[in-house]
Amino acid sequence: MIDMLHQDWFVDAEGRCQPRPASRPWDLLQDHYYLHQFLSDILSILAHAPNEFDQWDYLPQIRRKVRQLILNSYWLKTQRAEPDPKSGVAVITLYDEIGYPLTVQNVITAPGLVTSIHNHGTWGVVALLEGQERHTFWQHPPGSDRITPIDQRTLNAGEIISFMPEAIHQVETLGLTPTVTFQLYGDTQPKARFQFDPETFTAKPF
Ligand SMILES: [Fe+2]
Repeated sequence: MIDMLHQDWFVDAEGRCQPRPASRPWDLLQDHYYLHQFLSDILSILAHAPNEFDQWDYLPQIRRKVRQLILNSYWLKTQRAEPDPKSGVAVITLYDEIGYPLTVQNVITAPGLVTSIHNHGTWGVVALLEGQERHTFWQHPPGSDRITPIDQRTLNAGEIISFMPEAIHQVETLGLTPTVTFQLYGDTQPKARFQFDPETFTAKPF
């Protein structure tokens, strides 16, 4: 896995996708990095944030931990399923309990699948484990319910993309085989998550 791409990306609130320095794989290699260790590390990092709205400020540290996980956890890559024939998606929840402040999942998508245009209402980090996908980013000017496309990026296995809570994207699964992604999100803030109508580009709660 050390020969995969290792590029990090950051998408800001205006939908600009910028490259960020990635940790060197040989600095992160270790014998085991279990999911429970990873989750404890993430919660320790987030404990430094003064409040939930500032958690995204810790995305560089979180991305480094995600890279450590995808480099050292063979188990993570075995957590997969065939995409549902109807929806084209399979979601495997890797950990959850009532009140848990993180969403941790592997998501498998079928070739050709195009998601809705959406934000997540919280920070997010997505690592491509297998396959290829194209993200289109949109801008949502304050006070307006209209959005406009602003940027696009094709990601390959080994790349990690991170999002501010307001970042809006749409994802298309490329290639001939399903894409497998590891996805980590913070707590979605009430009334902060939107899906956008592709015809009118207007927002509705999601
Ligand atoms: Fe998304």
